[in-house]
Amino acid sequence: MPDNYTEEELLDLARRYSFRSRMDRSGVTGPIFVWGRGSVVRDINGKEYLDFNSGQMCAALGHNHPRIVQALQESAESLIHSHMTMYNDREIILASRLAEITPPGLNRSMFLTSGSDSNEAAMAIAKRYTGGYEIASPVVSFHGMSDAARAVTFSGWHGGYGPYAPGNYPIMAPYRYRCAFCQDRPACDYTCLDSSFELLDAQSDGRMAGVITEPLFSAGGVIEPPPGWLQELKLRCERRGMLLILDEAQTGLAKLGSMWASEQEGVVPDIFTISKHFGGGIAISATITTDEIEEKAVETGLVVAHSHSNDPLTCNAAIASLDIILEENLVDVADRIGRYWKGHLQQLQQRHELIGDVRGRGLLQGIEFVTDRVTKEPAYSQGQQIGRTCLENGLIMSIRRQGSALRFVPPFTTTQDQMDLAADILDHAISSVS
Ligand SMILES: Cc1ncc(COP(=O)(O)O)c(C=O)c1O
Repeated sequence: MPDNYTEEELLDLARRYSFRSRMDRSGVTGPIFVWGRGSVVRDINGKEYLDFNSGQMCAALGHNHPRIVQALQESAESLIHSHMTMYNDREIILASRLAEITPPGLNRSMFLTSGSDSNEAAMAIAKRYTGGYEIASPVVSFHGMSDAARAVTFSGWHGGYGPYAPGNYPIMAPYRYRCAFCQDRPACDYTCLDSSFELLDAQSDGRMAGVITEPLFSAGGVIEPPPGWLQELKLRCERRGMLLILDEAQTGLAKLGSMWASEQEGVVPDIFTISKHFGGGIAISATITTDEIEEKAVETGLVVAHSHSNDPLTCNAAIASLDIILEENLVDVADRIGRYWKGHLQQLQQRHELIGDVRGRGLLQGIEFVTDRVTKEPAYSQGQQIGRTCLENGLIMSIRRQGSALRFVPPFTTTQDQMDLAADILDHAISSVS
């Protein structure tokens, strides 16, 4: 049990035995977490933190939600793991429950374990359906660190693992704040898309299968595409017979104040994927598509199966998570929390010149630091220092874009008092470097 060890003893063990392959961190340092409830986690020394990262975004329903705990207990009494090829009751019920809330026509789900494998499955389906093999993705999009997912992740963590399979192409980011085409114009005119598709058409082998994208780019720095961008992207895909795959790992299931981000954009994707808080903290993901696409993929002999696909325990946790999302009206909760937190960020922006941009919505928001609001020179070291100071003072969030952006993902359980406290911690941290 962790209470038999001190922090130093555990760090010493970690230095000797843990593989240091973590994102954003190579040193072995504290805090070491041992407990969590709602929006708070506690480290081994008893210090509490506001978790505005929701764990790794997977605890957005709140740490150790009692209904998730209950679902795990039920599965522990009935069936934890089952045959991958044969059906179990939990996965069938989950698929039917999910179909009640998915965008129109997207009724068919398969259940996997991680965001990466749900995206791999989505791309495999698109390849089977179209007969193509080429996939494009915006340069700020993140889709995971399995080989196929990393191959279409151009927002970082891409180099040094190749050669990848052929046919993965970056397209330009709809990053209005820094867009070379439209940052000084009143609106985006989709020049980025036109240029991207001109290049794609030129370099493609004529076998494009699809585009995979996040509807709001989280790991890339909380970048919101301008209105209409997703619709324009879908149009360009349709003209070429390419499928649109939306990765809603971070944006779906109520987080942005609607059940799906695609809904707010008025776009229905061909395939979409979910993971993160889908299992209320338990590892489960889904790849979801239409009857027609499923039918054709199956006809061509598509098989996607892993040892833990459709496990009853993870599916039962996901059923509980859907119950929580619907019964606790989490769409409205995300909207309410999002507006209040945005208010804090905007006030901080008025007080601190260092904050160049405030963006995102619902439970996924960010700020970008610049040394000068006109030149927009990124304030990398200041952002890193602010992130470190916040952590020391009990606020967890993620540092993105090498330090120039901070991302906040407070759980749905977060109260106004907790947001006031978080804003205070952030305010002090920014003042300390300004
Ligand atoms: C949008 C998005 N897609 C996919 C993934 C990969 O998910 P996983 O780490 O579960 O493989 C992530 C992880 O952060 C993500 O943010």
